[in-house]
Amino acid sequence: MNVLVTGGAGYIGSHAVKFLRRAGHEVVVVDNLSRGFRAAVTGETPLVVHELCDWRHIARVLRGNAIDCVMHFAALAYVGESVDDPLRYYRNNAAHAIELLHAMRTVGVQKFVFSSTCATYGEPKPEHIPISEDCPQQPINPYGWSKFFVERVLTDYSRANPDFSCAILRYFNVAGSDREHEIGEAHDPETHLIPIILQAALGLRPHVEIFGTDYSTPDGTCIRDYIHVEDLIDAHILCMDRLQPGTRFIFNLGIGKGYSVRDIINATQRVTGKKIKVIEGPRRPGDPPRLFADPGRIRRELGWSAKITGIDDIIDSAWGWYSRHPNGYAGRLD
Ligand code: UFG
Repeated sequence: MNVLVTGGAGYIGSHAVKFLRRAGHEVVVVDNLSRGFRAAVTGETPLVVHELCDWRHIARVLRGNAIDCVMHFAALAYVGESVDDPLRYYRNNAAHAIELLHAMRTVGVQKFVFSSTCATYGEPKPEHIPISEDCPQQPINPYGWSKFFVERVLTDYSRANPDFSCAILRYFNVAGSDREHEIGEAHDPETHLIPIILQAALGLRPHVEIFGTDYSTPDGTCIRDYIHVEDLIDAHILCMDRLQPGTRFIFNLGIGKGYSVRDIINATQRVTGKKIKVIEGPRRPGDPPRLFADPGRIRRELGWSAKITGIDDIIDSAWGWYSRHPNGYAGRLD
């Protein structure tokens, strides 16, 4: 298939590019490089540096490359930033997605795989954990709302267009890198737990701060579901392969197990063999205490389940990239 990957220079999108090509697909990337890195686009994949809101240009890219399916990863994804600048998030994540869909409609591209998030569930009630796709969606920040909004658009657009098909994939916490450790997780600024602990293990930070130790969890710290990026992208490719006119998949992507912040710190110490200095700080506003998936629906409907489920293996994969690229893409980026 010919696949357009938006956000293909970002962490998850760059893995999609690599694994799609490995699976024999032709790939074109569109990325504005506002958060992504040219060096993350591997294998001489064509990279169009452009804004998605320019639907006429995007339509030309779709037509010129005979695109069959769009995988849409391009988004801003900092919860705190979305609270400070909601308009930016609604424009970038919601309005631009609509322009992209408009470009697709103009050219007749009917397959869409959308990167959504467990943040659309907000703070689920204890009886909804593990979280299934039927859990009520009540985002608690503009980032979650911006993704939820696109889900809503896709639902309505699908109903009105029987030939359109889409997969809405709600990610839990994505981690790890490709086996060759060619690409990996790099954000600027870095806010994600595993990269931060790895930076501390490398001596690039003096310590890791635990945001809150008084949650109603066994060790008092927040619990999350960490899914390996390779498993995550396998699910995308499987969904894409199964899209038929009228299909609308909605799946959670997680492993179905939760690990606390302390679990992750302990696992990282085991994997790296480094002692990591930990300080205990206050809660970070907006962090739900427990989020982990019930990934049963995609297992039942498509037979997918995560293969890499040991937390040490997931962290070892992230460490493989981080230890080789302690400064991320710095020094070799666009
Ligand atoms: N944490 C720390 N210290 C740090 C960084 C994180 O204790 O220095 C904690 C957080 O408080 C949280 C856990 O580690 O409890 C994981 O935090 P991350 O920032 O790595 O990930 P989040 O769970 O906050 O974020 C993920 C996705 C977001 C999405 C969100 C939904 O990365 O895109 O889940 O809740 F919006």
